[in-house]
Amino acid sequence: MDLSKYLLFITALVLLSVASACSHGKCGMLEKCSSDQDCDAGLYCFYCVEGFLSYKCVRSSATDQFKLLNDSLPFNKYAFLTTHNAYAIDGYPSHTGVPRFTVTNQEDTVTQQLNNGVRALMLDTYDFRGDVWLCHSFNGHCYDYTAFGPAIDTLKEIEAFLSANPSEIVTIILEDYVQAFKGLTKVFTNAGLMKYWFPVRNMPKNGQDWPLVKDMVKNNHRLLVFTSIKSKEESEGIAYQWNYMVENQYGDGGMHAGSCPNRAESPSLNDKSKSLGLVNYFRTIPMKELTCIDNSKDLLDMLHTCYGAAGNRWANFVAVNYYKRSQGGGSFQAVDTLNGKLLCGCDDIHACVPGSSLSAACSAQDKL
Ligand SMILES: *[C@@H]1O[C@H](CO)[C@@H](O)[C@H](O)[C@H]1NC(C)=O
Repeated sequence: MDLSKYLLFITALVLLSVASACSHGKCGMLEKCSSDQDCDAGLYCFYCVEGFLSYKCVRSSATDQFKLLNDSLPFNKYAFLTTHNAYAIDGYPSHTGVPRFTVTNQEDTVTQQLNNGVRALMLDTYDFRGDVWLCHSFNGHCYDYTAFGPAIDTLKEIEAFLSANPSEIVTIILEDYVQAFKGLTKVFTNAGLMKYWFPVRNMPKNGQDWPLVKDMVKNNHRLLVFTSIKSKEESEGIAYQWNYMVENQYGDGGMHAGSCPNRAESPSLNDKSKSLGLVNYFRTIPMKELTCIDNSKDLLDMLHTCYGAAGNRWANFVAVNYYKRSQGGGSFQAVDTLNGKLLCGCDDIHACVPGSSLSAACSAQDKL
């Protein structure tokens, strides 16, 4: 086309986009956008290939339940967004000198995850190169090409977050392959995390409530660590996860609509001697393009299915891959729903705020 027609065409395009698009932080949920800056606070500009025809603003951060409401209830009355393999991050630099050859599960750094409201991190810990490393692997061995990095780097990010956010609580759930004597204790100590350690002796063993969040904060017991190795509870004072928590099947086996079997290592989901519940909802082989579908309605449906399987108990942790991928509210809405159910019997935590419009909408018949 000649130049004048071309200019006309460009002008038309610009006018069209200016006319149709909100911009500069004014775009709300599911409005079209062309950059993150177009979207309102707490949203970012995302394209769910399988679900959208264009880029739209979707949620990028969680509701802080303690700030929206209060922290005066037991820890097990709240729900927390959990990142599966929080350390397996796109573009994480190789720390072995060998290019990495393994899948990722997240796109943000651990610091970004925490700043966006993630409050529980799943980490895989291995003995590697004389230290504890975070690694994606098989048969309990870490390899140069599957290693992400020394655990201390990530633990120091968590320390920085806890130090900067004195009212927040972080939970670490370890798939633990460390055999080195007191290997975990050393790395947590070196990362400066022991001062936040929630002592195992204060964890309820027979289905009682956990301490109140405000007391955990006051006592600086703001880091909960669970290991998958039973003997470490005795030898290192690190809680054995399934003494305190029930958990559904992870990976593809946990994604069959309408069924919520427990993970083999976990007590039965309806075992009420465990006060905490975790729902895993992620594919065995992460598939980025499909995750926005997984993390949306399907995830919410599974939370309801697992509620039934757990003897009418809502989960406290919901673990996903690529936590910011969704068709709108995604994993953040899922946690808002859990907190709504747990805290006031409504479908969304915002309905627990007295006098809010959602609160009025949550009529008596919606309540459990
Ligand atoms: C804190 O929030 C919960 C849930 O909305 C509510 O039941 C409780 O009364 C609140 N406590 C205080 C001290 O405000």
